[in-house]
Amino acid sequence: MPILEAHDLHKIYRTDGVAVPALRGVDSTLEPGEFVAVMGPSGCGKSTLLHLLAGLDTPTQGGVVLDGQRLNDLNESRRALLRRATVGFVFQAYNLIPNLTVVDNVDLPGLLAGQPAAEVAERRNELLEALGIAEKADEFPHQLSGGQQQRVAIARALINAPTVLLADEPTGNLDSRSGNEVLALLRGFNEEGQTILLVTHDSKMVGLGPIPVPVDGLGLALLLPGLMLMAALGAYLPARRAAHLPVVEVLQEE
Ligand SMILES: Nc1ncnc2c1ncn2[C@@H]1O[C@H](COP(=O)(O)OP(=O)(O)OP(=O)(O)O)[C@@H](O)[C@H]1O
Ligand SMILES: [Mg+2]
Repeated sequence: MPILEAHDLHKIYRTDGVAVPALRGVDSTLEPGEFVAVMGPSGCGKSTLLHLLAGLDTPTQGGVVLDGQRLNDLNESRRALLRRATVGFVFQAYNLIPNLTVVDNVDLPGLLAGQPAAEVAERRNELLEALGIAEKADEFPHQLSGGQQQRVAIARALINAPTVLLADEPTGNLDSRSGNEVLALLRGFNEEGQTILLVTHDSKMVGLGPIPVPVDGLGLALLLPGLMLMAALGAYLPARRAAHLPVVEVLQEE
C-alpha cells in the first residue's frame, strides 16, 4: 500500500482577489522505502505540493491519502495528529526555533508526541551523531552554518521515526559540497528504510542536465521525478521499484 497518494491535486492561491494557480492536477504515489526527488524550477509549486501532501495546507481540488487516511475527511486537529505520527518535514527555510538549542529543537517534536524523554534523548544523540553535528548539541541556531542548521532540521524531522520524510529543498541553501553531504546522509537514511520525498529546483543536485522546459505554451511542465530519481540514486535503487515511481505534473512559473 502506498504511504502517500496525491489524487488530481489542484491549488489556487487567492490574494487580493487575484487567483494564482500553483498546481493543476498532480497525481502521484509514494511507496514504502522509496526515495523520490521531484524537480521543477522556482515557483512551479514544489513547496505547495509538499505542504498539501503533509496536510499543512488544503487543496482547492483533489485529495491526499496519507498512510491510508484521506486528509479531506479529517478536521485540522486530526490532520495534525496524523501528521505528527507519520510525517517528518524539513522546511525550505529550516524553521528552527531561534531561542532553543540544537538539543531542544530536535527533542521538541518527540516530547510533543509524548515520547519518554530518555528515549527522545537517545534517538536525538544517534541522529546528531549520524548527521555529524554532535558537537553542536548545546549551541543555538544563529551559531551554526547553513549546512549545520539544515542537518538540525533533518534531525528534528526524523526524531519521531516518521513513516515518511518530506524535505523541501534540503540542499537549497548549501554550497555543492555541503549539499552533497546532506544528500549522502539522506541516502544513508533511505538505505536503512526511511521513505523520503524531496523537492528541489537544483538539477545539479541529482546529477542531471537542465530541467525540461515546456514548449507547448500552456505553462505546464511534465516532470518525471522517477527518471530523475534513478539518475540521482541509481546505485541505490533496486530496478523493481522503478515501476512505482511517480510522474508529477507541476505548473511552470509564468
Ligand atoms: N501563500 C501564498 N499565497 C499566494 N501565492 C502563493 C502562496 N504560496 C505560493 N504562492 C504562489 O504559488 C506558486 C508556487 O509557489 P511555491 O512556493 O509552491 O513554489 P516552489 O516551486 O516551491 O518555488 P521555489 O523553488 O522558489 O521554492 C508561486 O507562483 C507562488 O508565488
Ligand atoms: Mg519552494
